[in-house]
Amino acid sequence: MARALFDPERGYYTRNIRTVGARGDFSTSATLSPSLGAAIAFWLKAESRAHPSIRHIIEIGAGDGSLMQNVRQAMSWWKRRQFTFHIVETSPVLREQQQKRLGSKVHWHDTIESALAHAQGDAFIYHNELLDAFPATLVQWQNGQWHEVWVPESLHSHQLDVSSFSALRHTAFKDGQRCELHPSIRDWLRNWAPQWKGGAMLSIDYGDEFPQLYHRRSQGTLRAYLLHQRLTGADIYANPGRQDITADINFTDYRAWLRELGITEVSYHPLADFLRPRAAPAQLLDADGAGTAFKCCVHRRQACAS
Ligand SMILES: C[S@@+](CC[C@H](N)C(=O)[O-])C[C@H]1O[C@@H](n2cnc3c(N)ncnc32)[C@H](O)[C@@H]1O
Repeated sequence: MARALFDPERGYYTRNIRTVGARGDFSTSATLSPSLGAAIAFWLKAESRAHPSIRHIIEIGAGDGSLMQNVRQAMSWWKRRQFTFHIVETSPVLREQQQKRLGSKVHWHDTIESALAHAQGDAFIYHNELLDAFPATLVQWQNGQWHEVWVPESLHSHQLDVSSFSALRHTAFKDGQRCELHPSIRDWLRNWAPQWKGGAMLSIDYGDEFPQLYHRRSQGTLRAYLLHQRLTGADIYANPGRQDITADINFTDYRAWLRELGITEVSYHPLADFLRPRAAPAQLLDADGAGTAFKCCVHRRQACAS
């Protein structure tokens, strides 16, 4: 999955993605409506009252740049001027689209470490549908133990640290149950979190707590998208580098990893609960859509709490 998405020569995100939205392979809530950006601007305004010395805003994984554009447009001219805006983007194709859309108003970085260094460690951070693009390890419960699923499909004994993953500690599944693990997200957080000294972070993605995430999903949540078609089973592996591959986020694990890094959780909700008081229109609050399938958590680096 890492190579299919991020190989420097042939990866989907590095080379072959056309864009995000109607003209790409998948849409995101950010490309469907400006209201997510407006709600994030509202959240940033409230956070900046709690942390008045923070002057940097970092978006990680900005797609076609619509979300950053909507966040900026929803802020008053005066508020915008108080902040320096940064995007962390690993896809050269999408970075070019973001630069066309946003011009010189934003600083671009390859890594969050670089953006945090620019901000001297103090920043408000947000990301939408970033984590679901991280490579996942697929595991299957079979004959009383967990196995890794390899490509071509075969089961192998797993070498993963059980303490990091709620699924590997769970032994009440039926044979054949599949789950995804994200050591890639855990390791990424461990790399940059020590450099985040103060501020708040908003994480939005589709997923749920474990084990609800796998309720009636015996095949797990791994899937691919090509021209807005959802592909499952063997089709996930059919066009490596030509289609998006994604999996839901296990928020039990994600929140535990942040807790272990000393980052304080402020809230965890369905996205609808974040949007509703910030006046999002009905289409984003659709009961079967973004509002409930998506979750949203807010964390703070307490060192800077005033
Ligand atoms: C599914 S798209 C979501 C785009 C956008 N946030 C939105 O809501 O429309 C994932 C984005 O994250 C970027 N990305 C993936 N891995 C990344 C990483 N490790 N650091 C920064 N950006 C990354 C991709 O290139 C892409 O821009």
